[in-house]
Amino acid sequence: MKLEEILNKENYSRDEIIYLLNLKNPEEMQKLYKHADEVRKRYCGDEVHMRGIIEISNYCEQNCLYCGLREDNISLERFRMSVEEIIETANQITKLGIFTIVLQSGEDSEFDADFISHIIFSIKQKSNAAITLSLGERGFDEYRAWKIAGADRYLLKHETSNKKLYSLYHSKQKLIDRINHIKFLKRIGYQVGSGNMIGLPMQTIEDIADDILLCKELDLDMAAFGPFIPSPNTPYHSKNAGSPELTLKVTAVLRLVLKNVHIPATTALDTLDQLGREKGLNVGANVIMPDLTPHPYRDNYQIYPGKRGVADDPVESALKLQRRVEALGRKISFSRGDSMKIVLPAL
Ligand code: 5AD
Ligand code: SF4
Repeated sequence: MKLEEILNKENYSRDEIIYLLNLKNPEEMQKLYKHADEVRKRYCGDEVHMRGIIEISNYCEQNCLYCGLREDNISLERFRMSVEEIIETANQITKLGIFTIVLQSGEDSEFDADFISHIIFSIKQKSNAAITLSLGERGFDEYRAWKIAGADRYLLKHETSNKKLYSLYHSKQKLIDRINHIKFLKRIGYQVGSGNMIGLPMQTIEDIADDILLCKELDLDMAAFGPFIPSPNTPYHSKNAGSPELTLKVTAVLRLVLKNVHIPATTALDTLDQLGREKGLNVGANVIMPDLTPHPYRDNYQIYPGKRGVADDPVESALKLQRRVEALGRKISFSRGDSMKIVLPAL
């Protein structure tokens, strides 16, 4: 089958996805990118949604083989932000005109249901910003409490759809549980994001095709695929990083397959390639997620080394990102950027 015929399809088979991910010819890759950009424009327009991340704790009770926050990494200085610091940072984010606040941490049970509920409720008292939680796999009762407190979205990456690799990377966790958590979050009304890493040790192109198909099956509102970056003091410290080029192909194919789903140009891609964010936005992405964690904490959220913008002033760094987006001829959105799949009741 010719590339043009595949690109113009409405639905994609596993084999077609694998074919697209395997494209090597630069002209063909450009056709894929151009088509993904057109599909992005048709479904999402030219607006780019900003999500302001606050990394509220870098404690983690998991031991994922690839991640610098893993429990066994005793060389990492750990922190927890205070309630006041978190609420103040959330305030600053909304003053920048960013109306999604992402509260992110490792799996940290010290930050219990009541503590997180209190933060959500307090932020919601002062603004109508959307709140995304990215706190790992937690209890179903906790997800429910946080929804009632006012949380809007949950980001829980599936990391890999290959059952065997999942169990290898996460000794204490199972893929089936992760998928059930994602389904539960959807069922109780969260807008849900998931995704994986590109270039994890032993991962194949077929695995990535299955990751894309899993995102479709889960009917996600957001899908984030970033390259793996080897992290010191982890078992995978000497492995190769994921390929930025493959990450771009995956972003483009995600847009073709998922259509009306939010897709970020990830910080991990921007860390491996100076123009990673621009390239991601040009091949299907419509979201960026600036890190607005204040100093001194932002230096210690070391999932992987060399994270772009860590040394910068958070507000300056977010404004710099906005200028990069505008230089592409795209518009910064000042709305919450809710799921494209739901119709919210009028306020
Ligand atoms: N490289 C890139 N991304 C990583 N993550 C964890 N470790 C790495 C790494 N070494 C991502 C995972 C996880 C999130 C916290 O960061 O996708 O969900
Ligand atoms: Fe913890 Fe998440 Fe890192 Fe795993 S990926 S070690 S759960 S922060």
